[in-house]
Amino acid sequence: MIKHLLSRRQFNASCAAFGLSLPTMSAMVAVKGSARVLGTGAASKTAGRTVKAPDGTTIPALGQGSSHLGLGRHPPAVEEEALRIGISLGMTLIDTSGNYGNGRSEELISHVIAGQRDRIFLVSKVEPNQLSGDGIARACEASLARLGTDYLDLYLLHSPVPSTQFSGVVAGFEQLRTAGKIRAWGVSNFNSGQMEDLFRVPDGHRCATNQVPYSLNYRHIEPAALSWCKQHNMPVMAYSPLGGDNNLLVGDRTLAQIAATHDCSAAAVALAWVIRSGNVIAIPESGSPAHVKENAVALSIALTPRDLQTLDAAFPGPFGAT
Ligand SMILES: NC(=O)c1ccc[n+]([C@@H]2O[C@H](COP(=O)([O-])OP(=O)(O)OC[C@H]3O[C@@H](n4cnc5c(N)ncnc54)[C@H](OP(=O)(O)O)[C@@H]3O)[C@@H](O)[C@H]2O)c1
Repeated sequence: MIKHLLSRRQFNASCAAFGLSLPTMSAMVAVKGSARVLGTGAASKTAGRTVKAPDGTTIPALGQGSSHLGLGRHPPAVEEEALRIGISLGMTLIDTSGNYGNGRSEELISHVIAGQRDRIFLVSKVEPNQLSGDGIARACEASLARLGTDYLDLYLLHSPVPSTQFSGVVAGFEQLRTAGKIRAWGVSNFNSGQMEDLFRVPDGHRCATNQVPYSLNYRHIEPAALSWCKQHNMPVMAYSPLGGDNNLLVGDRTLAQIAATHDCSAAAVALAWVIRSGNVIAIPESGSPAHVKENAVALSIALTPRDLQTLDAAFPGPFGAT
């Protein structure tokens, strides 16, 4: 599983090939030096770089989203290259869904993971309208076929359904887990009350994560969903960690000022903030190789207490910074 950890020399060479700056390279080499993690090429013992799943699996704290990939925003070869670069820099978790671009995101990802499936932590999702009968199993088979793989590391229910349906959903996920089609399952967009209800059904406690929106300019989950997951030792997977398309943080002046002190991009600071606790996995999306290189640097940034104070003051969130 850890076959692909690079030697320091190989890592330096790949950083140089990807045009990373010297301070960034040395920071990442320090991270590489202590890497010992399933499915990651760059991670460290420092809290925030990797996240422990409830079953003990270690997951990279930074992954790659894909909801707009395969839709023509960037040429397909460029998007594939962006994902490959992200993987080589430690962003080995790839998040997709059967409904992203009607399966086109999964198809594009299949080209990227071919030949390196064992180093990828692959996440896909099933929709609430696919649950009746053996719908979960059929949706999973369709995703596996599009992805060109025979298992998912994590399969998520994309959005909540009425809690009366939870036991059926969990049973469907558990059957897939027993059959080896998925290694773990989780939910997305659940609030803390829904998580409570989920934990009341048989095997509901086997839920591995809740994928929810979380970024400096969207801190709404902090008092309830985020703290619930922390209390239950369950990692949170943060989507739209850069604010999402309509509220992108990358032009923010405070982020730029902090970025200058770390010799990195504003995006890297925004992502380093999201993964700061060690309990949150961020899944930024980019179809741009240059952006992916910037984002990967977040794995090696340690924000200072002063940085965190400055960010809390600039982005207090609706309930005040926690
Ligand atoms: N579970 C759910 O309900 C749900 C909902 C939404 C999203 N998601 C998942 O979360 C992933 C990420 O969320 P998201 O796409 O909404 O938001 P995001 O990752 O916060 O933002 C993506 C946008 O940021 C740009 N970007 C990325 N890195 C950048 C950089 N370094 N500098 C400048 N711009 C940069 C991307 O454009 P470029 O491609 O040009 O870089 C893209 O327009 C999705 O792909 C999906 O996998 C899940």
